[in-house]
Amino acid sequence: MTDKYAVIGNPIAHSKSPLIHSMFAAQTGQDISYETILAPLDGFAATVERLRKEDYKGCNVTVPFKLQAFNLTPFGKQQAQDANAANTLTFEGNKIIANNTDGIGLVRDIEQNLGFSLQGKRVLLMGAGGAARGIQMPLVLAKVQRLVIANRTFEKAKEMEEEVLMYGHKHYGKLFDVEIAARNYSDLGDEQFDIVINATSSGLTDEMPPLPTDIFAPGALAYDMMYGRETPFMRFAREQGAQVADGLGMLVEQAAEAFCIWRGVSPDTAPVIAALRNR
Ligand code: ATR
Repeated sequence: MTDKYAVIGNPIAHSKSPLIHSMFAAQTGQDISYETILAPLDGFAATVERLRKEDYKGCNVTVPFKLQAFNLTPFGKQQAQDANAANTLTFEGNKIIANNTDGIGLVRDIEQNLGFSLQGKRVLLMGAGGAARGIQMPLVLAKVQRLVIANRTFEKAKEMEEEVLMYGHKHYGKLFDVEIAARNYSDLGDEQFDIVINATSSGLTDEMPPLPTDIFAPGALAYDMMYGRETPFMRFAREQGAQVADGLGMLVEQAAEAFCIWRGVSPDTAPVIAALRNR
């Protein structure tokens, strides 16, 4: 029998997840269906409940429901707790298991697909919304040397810094010796970074955070979590000589990890990333 899965969001129509999961299924011979479901803004929990009753095996969750997805169940895996958000739910009997594959997706894309090790690196994370919060612990756990969080509204970056320090010491103790700092863009000074990640939504309005020009260390990677077109940040980084990547690889990698959680097999992501790029 075909096992049913879905991705829940609002908006959701343009999601590439059904295409990605259908490619994974074809590649690994898994009999699954995967559809998009638009949940009303006040109807996320009811939508999940409906899927459970209709014998779906699990679902992905995207904007703006990832925090609600995490809070829906006491059965949150470590990655979901680290992010305080969930993007992957698995239905097992009466239980809903919450997981988060965004961090693994980002780290695998940077390290395996793009060939940049995070260990010992100086990383600038721009943004302090849901997208940035979801990846701060995975970056720390990948053993970066220094993580600077910059945000237009400085207080939110400061809150993130305090949260990650408190949470990290509590849950990861002595392992947790990374330097963390919050900054205004105007206070970045002449510090240089090996990896600069744009987790802001500035690309949506064709803007970019006000970065100083000499922010990139030689051979640096500029990573924009958006995909689909070149953002002003990507253009700026290319002009500054950085290697530039968009978030398409992360999208496919987070989907691959969700597929593996559900089906127990790891799909090959390279042909799927290539197919999406060529569309
Ligand atoms: P998401 O869930 O995608 O992270 P969000 O929670 O609305 O979305 O957060 C958007 C992030 O992008 C915020 O960090 C926001 O900065 P503020 O906290 O100061 O609002 C950042 N952002 C959006 N547009 C920006 C711009 N033009 N320049 C710099 N930062 C921007």
